[in-house]
Amino acid sequence: MKVMMMLWAGAAVCLAFSGAGAIAADASHGKELFVACAACHSEKTDAIGPSLKGVFGRKSASLDDFRYSNPMKRANLIWDAANLRAYLLDPQAKVKGNRMPFGGVANPSEADDLVAFLQTYK
Ligand code: HEC
Repeated sequence: MKVMMMLWAGAAVCLAFSGAGAIAADASHGKELFVACAACHSEKTDAIGPSLKGVFGRKSASLDDFRYSNPMKRANLIWDAANLRAYLLDPQAKVKGNRMPFGGVANPSEADDLVAFLQTYK
């Protein structure tokens, strides 16, 4: 029990000193997770997915040089935090029929960390 209390106090101190106020999401962890996305999402002309540089706040399916699927073209979303989070947790539920060959991240805190990273990715 005492150990639990100490761990808890330690975690509270870490949060208090992690800066950026109440934001618990961890962009640097998101950057590590993004390695899996970068296999498809890069600036290479033969990349499987569209570049995600500047995706935060962008309209869905808005890059001229990427051939999006029709479902993605019709999705008509702004990639804000809520939409990105939902798409990353369950791509097919958020944009039914889109052809991103990726099942989604299992864990909500990973989705938050990825969104935090994507906000900084420009
Ligand atoms: C195996 C390849 C692959 C992986 C891995 C992958 N994606 Fe995708 N992603 C795609 C493709 C292909 C599309 C375009 C889908 C369409 O047009 O229906 C896409 C679309 C997207 C879009 C919409 C972009 C736009 O311009 O509207 C976002 C956001 C996105 N992916 C985020 C991610 C993130 C974050 C990860 C990692 C957690 C990831 N993807 C992993 C292939 C991939």
